[in-house]
Amino acid sequence: MSHGAQSSPDNHAGDQATLISRIETLRTELKEHNYRYYVLNAPLISDAEYDRLLRELQMLEDRLGMPVPADSPTQIVGAPPSQAFESCRHGQPLLSLANAFDADEVREFDRRVRELAGDADIRYIAEPKIDGLAINLRYEKGVLTTAATRGDGQTGENVTDNIRTIRDIPWHLQAAAGDIPRVLEIRGEVYMPKQAFAELNEQQQANGEKVFANPRNAAAGSLRQLDPKITARRGLRFFAYGTGLGGDGLAETQHEVLDMLRTFGFPIQDYALLDDVEGLLAHYQDWLERRPVLDYEIDGLVYKVDAIVLQQQLGHVARSPRWAVAHKFPAEEAQTVVERIIWQVGRTGVITPVAEMKPVPVGGVMVSRATLHNVNELGRKDVREGDAVIVRRAGDVIPEIVRVAPMQGRRRAARPEMPAHCPECGAAVVQLEGEVAIRCSGGLSCPAQLKERMRHFVSRSAMDIEGLGEKLIARLVDESLVHSVADIYTLDFARIEDWPGIGSKKIANLRAAIEASKSRPLARFIYALGIRHVGQATANALAVHFGSLATLAAADEASLQAVPDVGPEVAASIRNFFAEAHNREVLQRLHDAGVVPQEMEKAEADHPLAGKTVVLTGTLEHMTRQEAQERLRHIGARPSGSVSAKTDYVVAGAHAGSKLARARELGVRIVNEAQLLDWLGIE
Ligand code: IVH
Repeated sequence: MSHGAQSSPDNHAGDQATLISRIETLRTELKEHNYRYYVLNAPLISDAEYDRLLRELQMLEDRLGMPVPADSPTQIVGAPPSQAFESCRHGQPLLSLANAFDADEVREFDRRVRELAGDADIRYIAEPKIDGLAINLRYEKGVLTTAATRGDGQTGENVTDNIRTIRDIPWHLQAAAGDIPRVLEIRGEVYMPKQAFAELNEQQQANGEKVFANPRNAAAGSLRQLDPKITARRGLRFFAYGTGLGGDGLAETQHEVLDMLRTFGFPIQDYALLDDVEGLLAHYQDWLERRPVLDYEIDGLVYKVDAIVLQQQLGHVARSPRWAVAHKFPAEEAQTVVERIIWQVGRTGVITPVAEMKPVPVGGVMVSRATLHNVNELGRKDVREGDAVIVRRAGDVIPEIVRVAPMQGRRRAARPEMPAHCPECGAAVVQLEGEVAIRCSGGLSCPAQLKERMRHFVSRSAMDIEGLGEKLIARLVDESLVHSVADIYTLDFARIEDWPGIGSKKIANLRAAIEASKSRPLARFIYALGIRHVGQATANALAVHFGSLATLAAADEASLQAVPDVGPEVAASIRNFFAEAHNREVLQRLHDAGVVPQEMEKAEADHPLAGKTVVLTGTLEHMTRQEAQERLRHIGARPSGSVSAKTDYVVAGAHAGSKLARARELGVRIVNEAQLLDWLGIE
């Protein structure tokens, strides 16, 4: 600055003071946000806002030009580990990634890389950026010894017992001990698939427990459970993307690292190799379209210099490597105004507050309704009619209100009142002991509950009856033509043929769709029944385990709990469903009307491995361990990672080690790969 009032020494000092004060505020705020994000799994602000604050701090620290303290949020990754778990020091620190929010920032990254790499040929690898949490796995002589969260990058929380419940993570690397370093750290991301997230939140909500803001928080919350049994039920998955200590010299490029991780037995993601920045940007456009189809959340792409010598040459700055950048997807959050808060009755009678909002595009989709989950969440977020709010869509998950946006100088409406009567049928609203959810006490006489139950029954993932849409169901219920889902199969079509929008063609199609639904696979039928706590995954597991509806209906709680993922609560809910006279009557009527779900194929149900616990060990020649596990699950077996007295078979491949020895010790039956192939029906 050369002239004018700004350059006077006093003013300069004034600027400096403002700058320092802003920096301090930002540091305090960011530390608090780190704590909420990493330790409490309950962030208050979106990632995009966090990134903005962090960038502002980075910029101001640069401008100030003074030494930056080591505990500034720009220097540390994440938050210190919480006290609940033992802390665990990583063999090599876990770094973070710099972000790029648009094409120009990616070009800038590429320019810097090329500048620092001299005239070396640059090739990039692009990988999806999984929205989960980073984990460091330590293998000693190929055996998993510890697993830790990122923590502050140097030291994380020891979550080994919980990590062992994740089936994607091998307890032994599929490699001969001589081929790998004595200590090898594997890095990757634990995540929760969208379906598991939706089911978990549905359950949490029905139980009046905390609902998670997004799959990443749900994954973090599930991994940081003190009881590994809870973690085991949460459907967590894992992708490996790199190595830490011990990884040097194992491969020459990042794509070889990924291929190697796959041979070790880890799932890895699809990757692409691209020669220049324009290739990266075109690839990003493709992913914007592919993203919604994935069954897990990604929040961008990571571009890495593929050649490891070049990575080493480029090195890293405080938080992040210079050879990689995260190209983020546009935020899936937007601001709008709440027009009305209504109370919606679900199929089990739970009454949920829902905000009707001024329509706003969020991540490319128009959103006008958002769930407020339950009375507690509504109170906690303190959303009122007329409020400006931030809404978020996470993948294909129902939009939700993140928080109320500050509105200065406006009088707010009163807090919404909890209804005393069901808005649909007028029955009293009750709140069961120990539950946060409020419910309509009207049972099946409440048309709203019946409508929701029918909608679920005919939905695509359930009985898939096309043509029986929301409007038609509403009218059928309102005109008392259906009283339960069984009435769909005895519908008097003559009564509806002159309804608006219904012609003979529509009726013919509807008849055919209803007819076709009579023989849906058992798993879909079980899911369609809408038993509390039984989502698609559980319905599948029940179908595989019991093979027929009759066996399932007769199962007691102990045999229900023998099904993977079924705990006492789910077992009790299934028992109650089949014990209820009304439900039995509906099932009988469905059966009489010819609804006979396809039982698990006889061959599958009778398979010698059905229901058996099988442990794979050593190197398999014909397939990866992951593939073998998938196939085993498909025929109803239960692949497991560890040998115990409960193990039925151990399949020993080449170089099998301690598990084989343990199997011998316990007298577990040991078979070879040829027997496995035979069981799996592979020539
Ligand atoms: S590489 C030094 N690859 O994103 C490079 N990270 O913001 C470190 N992440 O801590 C990470 N998917 O938790 C890498 N394909 C991927 C990733 C990925 C997700 C996470 C990881 C990392 C964070 C950085």
